[in-house]
Amino acid sequence: MSKTEQWKTRILTKNELEQVCDMKMALSAVEDALRFIGTGDLVQTVCDVLNPSEGNYCFLLPHPAYIRPWKVVGDKWLGCCAGNLNKDLPYTVGVTTINDADTMMPIAFMDATYLTGMRTAAMAAIGTKYLARKNSETLAIVGCGVQGKTHLEAMCELGTFPLKKIQVFDLNKGAMNNLKSYGEKKYGVEIIPCDSVADAVRGADIICMLTTCRTPLITLDMIAPGAHLCPTCLWDIDIPGILGGVDKWILGNEQADVFNFVNDFEKKYGLGMSKVSTNLSEIVCGRAAGRTSDTERTTMTHLGMGANDVAIAYKAYEKALEMNLGTDVCLFK
Ligand SMILES: NC(=O)c1ccc[n+]([C@@H]2O[C@H](COP(=O)([O-])OP(=O)(O)OC[C@H]3O[C@@H](n4cnc5c(N)ncnc54)[C@H](O)[C@@H]3O)[C@@H](O)[C@H]2O)c1
Repeated sequence: MSKTEQWKTRILTKNELEQVCDMKMALSAVEDALRFIGTGDLVQTVCDVLNPSEGNYCFLLPHPAYIRPWKVVGDKWLGCCAGNLNKDLPYTVGVTTINDADTMMPIAFMDATYLTGMRTAAMAAIGTKYLARKNSETLAIVGCGVQGKTHLEAMCELGTFPLKKIQVFDLNKGAMNNLKSYGEKKYGVEIIPCDSVADAVRGADIICMLTTCRTPLITLDMIAPGAHLCPTCLWDIDIPGILGGVDKWILGNEQADVFNFVNDFEKKYGLGMSKVSTNLSEIVCGRAAGRTSDTERTTMTHLGMGANDVAIAYKAYEKALEMNLGTDVCLFK
């Protein structure tokens, strides 16, 4: 058999990824990716969406990145399809390929849905590590679905804050109670289900907005002085009031975020780069300040980037090799 025919690509399923990638790994992969962006060691391109399905809300979005120190390049294909809900299929569908950067040969191919949940919360948490007050005790989680669970894990696993209570709200009481049981058992922190968004965010030092709601649920006056906001959904906050009114608006990544939403916000609300303080890589690399006072209100917006997807997928692949998990296939045989 030729070398090409013998080339092995490791396939990793969601179940296998759950065994190899925990939140500690996600936090470390995301912080590495942010640092590599800051040092110029990670290159990513932003891509426009493909809309392959006429008449349906359906799109595919590539997330490519090259991580020079790890000698890998990769891409996450992320698709969303509204019609899937009637077909008993997930709304979000994703797969990631990791290639060797010298030869472009594929070394791994895997599910991306589980890792997307992990890397998104890890990104919000690394932003929070640099931007929230170090004495933050109260966390608010609005939206107790996939991101609600991973954000709770990420904020607790950081170990940066002396968290004493977590105030949660969701329209779905079952989701709220599930998060309470899960979080209290795993982290021993008090979790308080609330009757409204206003109750959940009242007095909170860190606020995570994680619903699928596309209208504002929170306004600037609901954010206490000194609090940090993680608007992971982005569309469930009062965008012009909050991004225009906080003391520091930080971007997760300038290249991706300008392309994904800052250009639009500039046109719609006059909220362009002149309103942005800096981006998270600059803070992680120590070239820009994070929080500078106990009273400022801060926020970090981000809608995802290939850097995090490729970083977490490669780290999961390395661990899978170590644990002998996954299935090797010879694609070119
Ligand atoms: N920034 C990023 O990179 C990124 C990545 C992934 C997901 N997201 C966004 O994060 C959000 C959450 O995603 P998910 O996967 O956790 O979804 P999910 O469906 O698992 O959970 C969403 C939860 O929000 C609740 N909800 C909806 N409307 C509400 C309202 N008005 N008030 C209170 N609760 C409400 C739902 O009941 C549900 O429990 C979505 O908006 C998604 O687009 C962002």
